[in-house]
Amino acid sequence: MKRILITGIAGLLGSRLADWIIKNTKHKVIGIDDLSGGFLENINREVQFYKFNLIDLEALKGVFEKEKIDIVYHFAAYAAEGLSPFIRKYNYENNLIASTNLITCSIQYDVSRFVFASSMSVYGNKYDPPFKEDLAQAPIDPYAVAKYAVEMDLEIAKQQHGLNYTIVRPHNFYGINQNIWDKYRNVLGIWMYQILNKKNPTIFGDGSQVRAFSYVDDSVIPFWNASQNDKCIGEIINLGGIKEYSIKDACNILINVTGLNVKPVYLEPRHETKYAWSTWDKSVKLLNFKHEVDLEEGIKKMWLWANNQPNRERFTWPKYELNKGIYEYWKN
Ligand SMILES: NC(=O)c1ccc[n+]([C@@H]2O[C@H](COP(=O)([O-])OP(=O)(O)OC[C@H]3O[C@@H](n4cnc5c(N)ncnc54)[C@H](O)[C@@H]3O)[C@@H](O)[C@H]2O)c1
Repeated sequence: MKRILITGIAGLLGSRLADWIIKNTKHKVIGIDDLSGGFLENINREVQFYKFNLIDLEALKGVFEKEKIDIVYHFAAYAAEGLSPFIRKYNYENNLIASTNLITCSIQYDVSRFVFASSMSVYGNKYDPPFKEDLAQAPIDPYAVAKYAVEMDLEIAKQQHGLNYTIVRPHNFYGINQNIWDKYRNVLGIWMYQILNKKNPTIFGDGSQVRAFSYVDDSVIPFWNASQNDKCIGEIINLGGIKEYSIKDACNILINVTGLNVKPVYLEPRHETKYAWSTWDKSVKLLNFKHEVDLEEGIKKMWLWANNQPNRERFTWPKYELNKGIYEYWKN
């Protein structure tokens, strides 16, 4: 029996991976989350759960000391990419320093495998999609810079200390357990929240941006394999959908699923990569990725789930670190 630590256990990817490991293996799952963006209800009861922010290095050392961790899955982050230029300090502390604390402990306590959920955002807007793993990183915002820096730190940790890492770069996963109450992230979650609250779904810009979406359950076996297949050590692997949709089309699919009389409202465009999706052949080869749930079917599952969720208060930043250049729709 291995002892598996999942950070961000209360979030989308972490909670669903934990459920799968508990159901399908005999391994023990230990979880850390500060509940800043995830929910206690998402955490499987069999998880040994610790609530704190990974910034707290002493608390983290305590968990490693006590739990004798074999494998680490690092999912904890605040993934509000568009907001990250306005909360730089928070972004780097929460996403970068927190990650390097985890790397420090993983080296110190001889973790055998470390799987990091990086992001497709590291490719930026320099290349035509699909993005292939060997393209040089070219981030265009602080969120992606933090991911890039963690990728580099892992490479150094392997070279100097032999930490066996695997970098997975997911893109556009959605599904049950996703945070739909955050104003700044998860396009499908934002729309579902708006529609549930009798508002029209909003689109940043003209909706011609293109993304490839994947249902969360399609991520679980690939993530599991990332720590099990030795060929993944030291590798960077894209993970995500094989079919692209414009944001406008994705919105219309959701509207059709709801059967409600709502229509998209177009807002000021954001600073973002317009066309973004990735290659998937490496994930098929090394992680056994299969795109099993198509967008309409996945949206149906998530919409059904969203309808049975509590009407939580919407998360809004009380004060941004930077106000200059903030979009009209995010102004306090
Ligand atoms: N979902 C996607 O499609 C996608 C795409 C690209 C990258 N990623 C990356 O994958 C990871 C997981 O994504 P997700 O969709 O499950 O996100 P999520 O927001 O649902 O889950 C992240 C969890 O981490 C927790 N957390 C955040 N910062 C923390 C900290 N410093 N200490 C402790 N807990 C903290 C939050 O409370 C939350 O429960 C993230 O790192 C994200 O950047 C996800």
